[in-house]
Amino acid sequence: MSDLKKKYLKLIANAKDEADIESLRIQALGKKGEISLKMRELGKMKPDERKIAGPALNKMKDEISAAISAKKMALIDKAFDERLRAEWLDVTLPCRTVRHGSLHPVSQVREEVTAIFAEMGFSVAEGPQIETDWYNFDALNIPEHHSARAEMDTFYLKQFGQKNNPPRVLRTHTSPVQIRAMESFGAPLRVICPGRVYRADYDQTHTPMFHQVEGLALDVDISMANLKWVLEEFTKAYFEIEKIDLRFRASHFPFTEPSAEVDIRCSWEDGKLKLGEGDDWLEILGSGMVHPKVISAGGIDPDVYQGFAFGVGIDRIAMLKYGMPDLRAFFDSDLRWLRHYGFSYLDVPTLHGGLSRAV
Ligand code: DAH
Repeated sequence: MSDLKKKYLKLIANAKDEADIESLRIQALGKKGEISLKMRELGKMKPDERKIAGPALNKMKDEISAAISAKKMALIDKAFDERLRAEWLDVTLPCRTVRHGSLHPVSQVREEVTAIFAEMGFSVAEGPQIETDWYNFDALNIPEHHSARAEMDTFYLKQFGQKNNPPRVLRTHTSPVQIRAMESFGAPLRVICPGRVYRADYDQTHTPMFHQVEGLALDVDISMANLKWVLEEFTKAYFEIEKIDLRFRASHFPFTEPSAEVDIRCSWEDGKLKLGEGDDWLEILGSGMVHPKVISAGGIDPDVYQGFAFGVGIDRIAMLKYGMPDLRAFFDSDLRWLRHYGFSYLDVPTLHGGLSRAV
């Protein structure tokens, strides 16, 4: 019997892996295993023989079983150590630059614009893209039957819910966020509101969905001069040029009085746009002093506070800065276009770090 024990202890000691140990377990302790068969023989023994052989056999079975378990654990530990040694990773290695994608020019420009205005103390406000016609029109001094409503090619939403729910539209501009910002934050106030807007229009420079950024500054002593300075600082920083010449052209918007469209001096030499010089003018935005009715609609007293507002097309100034000729391509999701005009997502635009770096 001790030969049997010796044999198995030796085999167990020499087992190389978990598979070895498992086959040894079956060979010794399995249903037809050597030790199991011996246990079965106990039945044929005489009682006094069995009295001695039984406990001895049980003890041996326990010992072999314990040896198998111990060896199994040791082999598992060993295999794990070997794996750890083989699968090391040097976390100090610099990562490889993998280009998974790039930032869409609209996102890039929105970040650039935000960085510039943040430097001038403007925070970012947002509003819903599905807007009531009150916020989109009435509060902005565009009453029903006003020609501006018709001009905006508005998408009206089907009346849903209760009958007396206010009519809703896809907002046609970011100007309603002026009202929402006034309601939420009161005055004094300096915000920009970037976002999507919608109009039923489609050609080389118009898409049914496009982007605007609204600006609003309210305080007790804000004038057109402040507006001009802010827009000059903005255009210089955005177009990344030292010298800029802006022209304020009298215009009309229901929500501002007086209203001005702002043009930037430019030249078109050999079809190439150059800003800051030349004899041409390029319209870039609409602006003005906020109409007292609009300030009232925002819940602020227009006898105390006044201010300026402006609205810029994000896609439009993206096209001008980065030389993209067709707005429709912005929203085609064509990977070739995105790879060509996209920006690195790791370069966050800041005024001190540089605004734009195409990839
Ligand atoms: N909301 C105007 C539009 O979409 C743009 C605009 C013009 C906004 C003048 C303003 C502003 O805040 O003062 O055409």
